[in-house]
Amino acid sequence: MSRLRIIVIGSAAGGGYPQWNCRGPVSSLFWNGDSRVQERTQSSLAVSSDGEQWALLNCSPDIRQQILRTPALWPQQPPRHSPIKSVVLTNGDIDHVAGLLTLREKQAFRLLGTRRVLEVLETNSIFRALDPAYVEKVPVALDRPFALVGDLTAEIFAVPGKVPLYLEDGEPEVGEESESTVGIKICSHGGGHFFYIPGCAQVSTGLRARLQGTPLILFDGTLWQDDEMIRSGVGEKTGRRMGHLSLSGPNGSIAAFADMDIGRRVFVHINNTNPVLIADSAERLAAEAAGWEIAYDGMELSL
Ligand code: MLT
Ligand code: MN
Repeated sequence: MSRLRIIVIGSAAGGGYPQWNCRGPVSSLFWNGDSRVQERTQSSLAVSSDGEQWALLNCSPDIRQQILRTPALWPQQPPRHSPIKSVVLTNGDIDHVAGLLTLREKQAFRLLGTRRVLEVLETNSIFRALDPAYVEKVPVALDRPFALVGDLTAEIFAVPGKVPLYLEDGEPEVGEESESTVGIKICSHGGGHFFYIPGCAQVSTGLRARLQGTPLILFDGTLWQDDEMIRSGVGEKTGRRMGHLSLSGPNGSIAAFADMDIGRRVFVHINNTNPVLIADSAERLAAEAAGWEIAYDGMELSL
């Protein structure tokens, strides 16, 4: 029976932790050498069933650093090789696509995403650096399982979200369920499966039904509270405006999933303002007491 192996190669939201220009209260702990926090790179997972062929779920600007510290992703044969056979995108955000430019060295892999997200890349000429003779772009339909890598299959489904920040033109519709923002379900031939949803504006009835009974979710852990960036003095946007549901409060993700049958629940895509990044914070302890784990770079899970 095949295993499903998951490596959280990047556990932070856009900007990483600490963010290069941030002296907010949580980032400052890192700059001050506080042992309760650790560095985190930007949002991405690697998945495999055989440990030899891997798929990336999103490809962050930190992919080079992530490969360097993940031996499973190192080239195995001369002169050139990569265990990375596929990349699936959940949206067109910079933290999820900019690493594709690092994978430009004439190495064959498949790039999968919704037609809308792949079109965003098509219309930006810098992504022509991905030579189509090597990189096959594969548009995938919502709610239709497809072969991913090894004997893993995947399925993408719309979740409440929004267009990427750099495509916003005035006030975007936040919370639309469209091809702009998706979650991914990964299934192994042996029967294990999990859900990866790094960006989600709200937990809809349909999403709850989809996740009921699953052994594992890796879910949007961007902000502890909706106005956290404003309170931290680092920005003017709420989580809601960014298309991210907060963890805490009566409408937060911890409450939304509290009564559900979910085996293991892990927060990913954690913003550099989120106090759950601090090992002994009240917020970290509250999330853990509610049954959630806080992902870290290099975290390995298997099913
Ligand atoms: C997000 O998750 O909201 C985006 O990654 C923000 C950004 O583009 O920096
Ligand atoms: Mn992001």
